[in-house]
Amino acid sequence: MLKQLDEIQEQALAALEGVPDLSELDAWRIRYLGKKSALNQILRDVGRLPREERPAVGRRGNEVKLALEAAYQARKQTLEQGELAALLEKDRIDVTLPGRPVPLGRIHITTKTLRQIYAIFAQMGFQVYTARDVELDLYNFELLNMPPGHPARDMWDTFYTTREGVLLRTHTSPGQIRAMRDYCPEPIRVILPGKCYRYEQVTARSEFMFYQVEGLAVGKRITMTDLKGVMAEFVRQMFGADRQMRFRASYFPFTEPSVEVDVDCIICQGAGCRVCKHTGWLEIAGAGMVHPLVLQNGGYDPTIYSGFAFGMGPERIAMLKYGIDDIRYFYSNDLRFLEQF
Ligand code: FA5
Repeated sequence: MLKQLDEIQEQALAALEGVPDLSELDAWRIRYLGKKSALNQILRDVGRLPREERPAVGRRGNEVKLALEAAYQARKQTLEQGELAALLEKDRIDVTLPGRPVPLGRIHITTKTLRQIYAIFAQMGFQVYTARDVELDLYNFELLNMPPGHPARDMWDTFYTTREGVLLRTHTSPGQIRAMRDYCPEPIRVILPGKCYRYEQVTARSEFMFYQVEGLAVGKRITMTDLKGVMAEFVRQMFGADRQMRFRASYFPFTEPSVEVDVDCIICQGAGCRVCKHTGWLEIAGAGMVHPLVLQNGGYDPTIYSGFAFGMGPERIAMLKYGIDDIRYFYSNDLRFLEQF
């Protein structure tokens, strides 16, 4: 029996030498140290041996078991280290290699122009006021002095929703009423940027979705001169000191008097060309003194308060500034266009 134990030990240790990986090592453990292993069998049957043989066989059996367990642990450690080293070698990363360049996005031309506009008006004390894209007919038209059936409503072809009286705003002017009702009776100096929607033919100059930046100032002694000063400063900062500006009489139901603000054509310097339709002037905004009825609808007493308002299109301003001849480029997501800014 003792000889058999020696043989088991010898055989197991020899086999262990040849175990190549952890899964084979587990098979080895089951074979030589498992419940059904020869060694375990002998240890279990020690009690059946003649009494005088039992101590020696028991002792030797335990020695063999301990020796095999120790050898198993040592081999396991070696194999684990080997596998880890192989894994590290396989997944080795050369941290000194240059990375793949990540393509950088650009700020959209509209955002860029809007930010320039915000910065210019911020210097003149105008805060940004955000109104809503989905508006009520009440704010988009009625409170701006255009009751149902008013012919001026035809100036703006409207996208209506399936909900009675709810539409996509055709201009940022409804925000004037919202701002006034929020601020009243405090003085106001805000710009209201945002998207506008018009159910109209898309052309080189007109989109069905575009931005506007509305401006509104309300206070006790605001006059047309203030409007002119603010517009002149805007033109100077946006287009440079050389540009001429003019006010041309116009009509909006919510301002009285109303004007269009023109700058002399950037392309031909006022001489007349295709872009300015040979007039020498380009329109950049609609504007005027806030109509007394609109002031009243905003909560201000028009005998005490007055105000001016303007509305400009940032895409048209960008077109003038960068010589872009078609507004459809702005939102057609052609990278060749977008990457130029
Ligand atoms: C208005 O929308 C008035 N609410 C502006 C206003 C505000 C007047 C406050 C007085 C006081 P108008 O329809 O002209 O006006 O539009 C103003 C500007 O929006 C235009 O000068 C133009 O720059 C831009 N715009 C209008 N329609 C389009 C369009 N379809 N595509 C691109 N830009 C447009």
